[in-house]
Amino acid sequence: MNKGAGVRPGAHGSPAPFDVEAVRRDFPVLHQQVHGHPLVYLDNAATTQKPRQVLEAIDQYYRTTNSNIHRGVHHLSQKATDAYEGARGRIAKFLGITSSAEAIFVRGATEGINLVASSYGRHHVGPGDEVIISAMEHHSNIVPWQMLCSERKASLRVVPMSDEGEADLDAYEELLSARTKIVAFSHVSNALGTINDVKRIVGAAHDHGIPVLLDGAQAAPHLPLDLEALGCDFYVISGHKLYGPTGIGLLYGREELLEAMPPYQGGGDMIKSVTFDVTTYNDLPHKFEAGTPDIAGVIGLGAAVDYLQGIGMEAIGAHEAKLLSYGTRALQQEPRVRLIGTAPNKAGVLSFLVEGVHPHDIGTILDRQGIAIRAGHHCAQPVMDRLGIPATARASLALYNTTAELDALLQGIRKVKEVFGT
Ligand code: ALA
Repeated sequence: MNKGAGVRPGAHGSPAPFDVEAVRRDFPVLHQQVHGHPLVYLDNAATTQKPRQVLEAIDQYYRTTNSNIHRGVHHLSQKATDAYEGARGRIAKFLGITSSAEAIFVRGATEGINLVASSYGRHHVGPGDEVIISAMEHHSNIVPWQMLCSERKASLRVVPMSDEGEADLDAYEELLSARTKIVAFSHVSNALGTINDVKRIVGAAHDHGIPVLLDGAQAAPHLPLDLEALGCDFYVISGHKLYGPTGIGLLYGREELLEAMPPYQGGGDMIKSVTFDVTTYNDLPHKFEAGTPDIAGVIGLGAAVDYLQGIGMEAIGAHEAKLLSYGTRALQQEPRVRLIGTAPNKAGVLSFLVEGVHPHDIGTILDRQGIAIRAGHHCAQPVMDRLGIPATARASLALYNTTAELDALLQGIRKVKEVFGT
């Protein structure tokens, strides 16, 4: 296992305390100046930086192993297949999935949701049926369901959200009915950071025999996950938000549901045999992995979960929780700054407004000070509409961030106010 420098065992074999400076040394990109200032990278909900262990795993793969998988009898092909399938097993284990058959590689959370909406949705949702989502979804967990509902003449029902950014789960339970064919909910909101009570969401749907898809793109980087204990039917993650490469993600699905679903795409590797008259499909998970996959991406993501496991998701969560409460206090105490998203249970996100300044201007002025945040609607326009605002500035956290960086953010916000005379 590739352990990060920050996680060497202590003198007596017990895990060393979380050492953020040692962790930072694993991330080459962090050590640069931007506009004459040390980079402060606080755009982690958009994408995280990659540790050298991930970079090296990808580099090694291309230097020593590159070959196509599941096809060749030659040495390199078998080595590549072992590396690919080995990474699948480790990533599945990291997420609490026992059977690799239930772990399907996709391009990212978006593709995972589209796969379920297309393959499961088209076969289970019909005229008059309903799909339930929430008011705080990312566009990727809205648009595929909207497309499905429009095609199948079904309706999209939306669980309302409070001004603080909490889903109204009493209203959710009221919405569940015999017409509901699937529930799709974010585990953690990308725009607000709210951690949803997914146990309750899954339990209530299952009481009605309704399957639940959870969008874990923003949860996996911050929370220890045990998907089987959680009991959801589908779960999606994006590798690039989990310190892995872009273009790779994972869809977890319960085996009996996946078995009954038709393939999402046709092509090589997803078949057992093909004639012009009939094709028989491959076993899970290959039935859903048509064509040559992102082999290097899977190997990179495998290295990323090894890295995270070496540190421990509990330790990462505890470090980030300290950062989140430090940043929340600082922003709440700052005059003319308004925090957006104040649910009691949050992870990773500080969305905010500065009175009289458009978030894009906040982002631009912070950038001049080397501070990277995201400004805009964060691919969650309905969240902005619900809160009656056009956009927010969003600082989002990762395991390598420090309180000193949050101090720099605060100084940067003071500069914004100075420039705008507010
Ligand atoms: N979904 C990503 C974000 O929240 C891109 O920024």
